[in-house]
Amino acid sequence: MELKVQTGDITTWKGDGIVVNLFEGAMSPDGAAGAVDKKLRGVLTKMIKKGEIKGKLGNATIVHIFDKLPSDRVCVVGLGKQGELTLDRARQAAANGVKALRDAGANKIATVVHGAGGLGNLEHESAAQANAEGIILGLWQFRKYFSDNSDVKQVDEVVMLERDASKLKSMKAGAARGEIIAHATNLARDLTNEPGNAMTPTRLADAAKRVAKEYGLEYELIDREKAKKFGMGAFLGVAQGSDEPPCIIVLRYLGGGKKSAPGLGLVGKAITFDSGGISLKPSENMQDMKGDMAGGAAVIAAMQAIGQLQPAINVTGIIPATENLPSGKAYKPGDILKASNGKTIEIISTDAEGRLILADALVYATKTLKLSPVVDAATLTGAMVVALGHHRTGVFTTDKELADLLFKIGEETGEKNWTMPLDPEYAEQIKSDWADIKNSGGRPAGSIIGAMFLKNFVGETAWAHLDIAGSVGGLIGTGKDNGYKNKFGNGTPTRTFVNLALALAKK
Ligand code: BES
Ligand code: MN
Ligand code: ZN
Repeated sequence: MELKVQTGDITTWKGDGIVVNLFEGAMSPDGAAGAVDKKLRGVLTKMIKKGEIKGKLGNATIVHIFDKLPSDRVCVVGLGKQGELTLDRARQAAANGVKALRDAGANKIATVVHGAGGLGNLEHESAAQANAEGIILGLWQFRKYFSDNSDVKQVDEVVMLERDASKLKSMKAGAARGEIIAHATNLARDLTNEPGNAMTPTRLADAAKRVAKEYGLEYELIDREKAKKFGMGAFLGVAQGSDEPPCIIVLRYLGGGKKSAPGLGLVGKAITFDSGGISLKPSENMQDMKGDMAGGAAVIAAMQAIGQLQPAINVTGIIPATENLPSGKAYKPGDILKASNGKTIEIISTDAEGRLILADALVYATKTLKLSPVVDAATLTGAMVVALGHHRTGVFTTDKELADLLFKIGEETGEKNWTMPLDPEYAEQIKSDWADIKNSGGRPAGSIIGAMFLKNFVGETAWAHLDIAGSVGGLIGTGKDNGYKNKFGNGTPTRTFVNLALALAKK
């Protein structure tokens, strides 16, 4: 799909469909919608009066124009209440418009930039970015395993139209940034939606290697042998039940000059399939555990966008990747593993594997590479879904600055975050009778316990842990498509990571 930003009048544009918008509660259309309404001799106004067009966020009403305008259809998307307009609402509206027109059969679409101009008060550049993101994210589909896609509807061209030529330059810049970030997010979605037989640790490393080559990143692989040398016993313990070679993928972007600080560290859990191991999961919905590498996918994807956007900061992505399977060689409850910082871990559940592979990756990030801050993302606990459901990522950090920054980024990106507690009292639950700590602390506060475990491997480094088990979509319960967010493996927190790198580079 090609995305263009042009100056022009949407009422004279020729194609399969145009998108305009309406605020909830508005009794008559304004801006571009108003201009379209005039040409349609008040049809939109009449439909608003009859309650057929409401302006509610999520609404997308298609009206056939026939010969009154050069385009075949107009889609009126709801923006919600005028006073509640945000960048993320504009992003959602942009997705809803192009999706509705696509499903109606439109191939060539023009849209206004929702939220900027008319009664919308968003700044043009960031609105253009949000709209571009909404369009590209909203049109994403994962159809590669269907043998017949001949009936699948697709959009080939979307033109973002702006009447004011003086705004074009900044809007083009915003849209270009949005394109990069959305395509990266779609890469994370592609990787996460792949089944476990196609997305093994080796295949994930290949994907990272392709990204590195294309966008000028350094690429390095820590294989089983190297991991042994580093003493990464926790990571290797999880990997020992699988016949697929495990690896820790390292991607490095140098944007801060070689002599500057080691920079930001992004760490992502990549269990390419989580069966639970010897502590086998129930078979119901176990298929969704192909998505247990979503954190790692988001790191690879974010590194791609960072390579393109070139912020003035060094960023290193670290992705520990392995399967978690039961076998005659698999690690077992009661086993004691030794992580690369020397800490010993009693295994209570082989299904609490994510924290084990992250332990060695975090030691590598903080102690070996001296990265700071370090932020990890992981589909770590089912308890996260119980606590926050699917609409917010749980953020675990004792660093107030990081917490505030991640919260702010979440509100802007729509990858919403919520800071969770990390009080020292919780450490009690992972005390072991046999080793320094144990890898499970029972049911209470499951997500906090997971984070408390990780805290043992970051030393004094500024660090935040993002538990995306719920927010990444679909790994528990039936996921739902919503605006620009797809139901399974939606790419969270790719955009958070990218925005974090951009924000830290500006400091
Ligand atoms: N990958 C799972 C967590 C998960 C479950 C993510 C469902 C998304 C949806 C993780 O490895 C796991 O199994 N965690 C255990 C931890 C427990 C054994 C302490 C869990 O949440 O039950
Ligand atoms: Mn598990
Ligand atoms: Zn897992």
